Amino acid sequence: MWLAGDPYERFVGRWSRRLAPVFLRWLGVAPGGRWLDVGCGTGALTAAVAATADPRQVIGVDPAEGFLTAATAGGPVTFAAADAQALPIADESCDAVVSGLALNFVPDPARALAEFTRVARRNAVLAAYVWDYAEGMQMLRYFWDAAAELDPAAAELDEGRRFPLCHKESLRRLWTDAGLSDVAVLPIEIATVFRDFDDYWQPFLGGQGPAPGYVATLPDESRQALRDLLRARLPAGTIPLTARAWAVSGRR
Ligand SMILES: C[S@@+](CC[C@H](N)C(=O)[O-])C[C@H]1O[C@@H](n2cnc3c(N)ncnc32)[C@H](O)[C@@H]1O
Repeated sequence: MWLAGDPYERFVGRWSRRLAPVFLRWLGVAPGGRWLDVGCGTGALTAAVAATADPRQVIGVDPAEGFLTAATAGGPVTFAAADAQALPIADESCDAVVSGLALNFVPDPARALAEFTRVARRNAVLAAYVWDYAEGMQMLRYFWDAAAELDPAAAELDEGRRFPLCHKESLRRLWTDAGLSDVAVLPIEIATVFRDFDDYWQPFLGGQGPAPGYVATLPDESRQALRDLLRARLPAGTIPLTARAWAVSGRR
């Protein structure tokens, strides 16, 4: 599902780059820290840490080599291949462990959070954001609602259904059950303005992630029917949507 960095950037990376600085401002981590970004992908959050949090060191890890190849970030940043559930990082060595739009794709999020906790220093910040797929992520809500109308099987793939973790209370519970303190959850909403219908639709043809992965399985006729339904549903001209993420944070 996650292979090529460039199409991912056009699909969702560009919006994660808008979210990340807002998330980091909310965390308010002190300068000079050692940061770990888990599921860093093409480096949207990693780059924002380097640019805005004045870190001593930032490590971005992700299992997708194709994303790591495309990942760039200025400053004291290194990238490495790793799974969130088995981090190649020493115990109690990080001041902040963060993750953007990735935790719901990890098979065992509780195990990942246990790893975040293991590598975090006492009082370190552990934080993540995921899309509010069920409601506030409009780009994907329009997509899955139209897809399910044309193809009932698409409803099973809808991330709003598949990822129960991506709700305020589920995130709070995961963080609290991991024994973290000062747990807080915040909705973060950004504008996702598409120049025109092509700017909305073309990134769905890039094959990266569940929705483009679904489009890639469709025969031409079905793909065109989905495109036409979406075109009819979305505003003509500029498409001013919004995307909401749930952010969660706590301290070790
Ligand atoms: C939607 S992308 C988010 C990438 C980036 N953090 C961002 O905000 O743009 C989801 C990422 O989760 C990563 N991922 C999937 N399973 C993972 C796992 N078990 N451990 C760590 N990362 C994982 C994928 O490789 C992909 O890069």
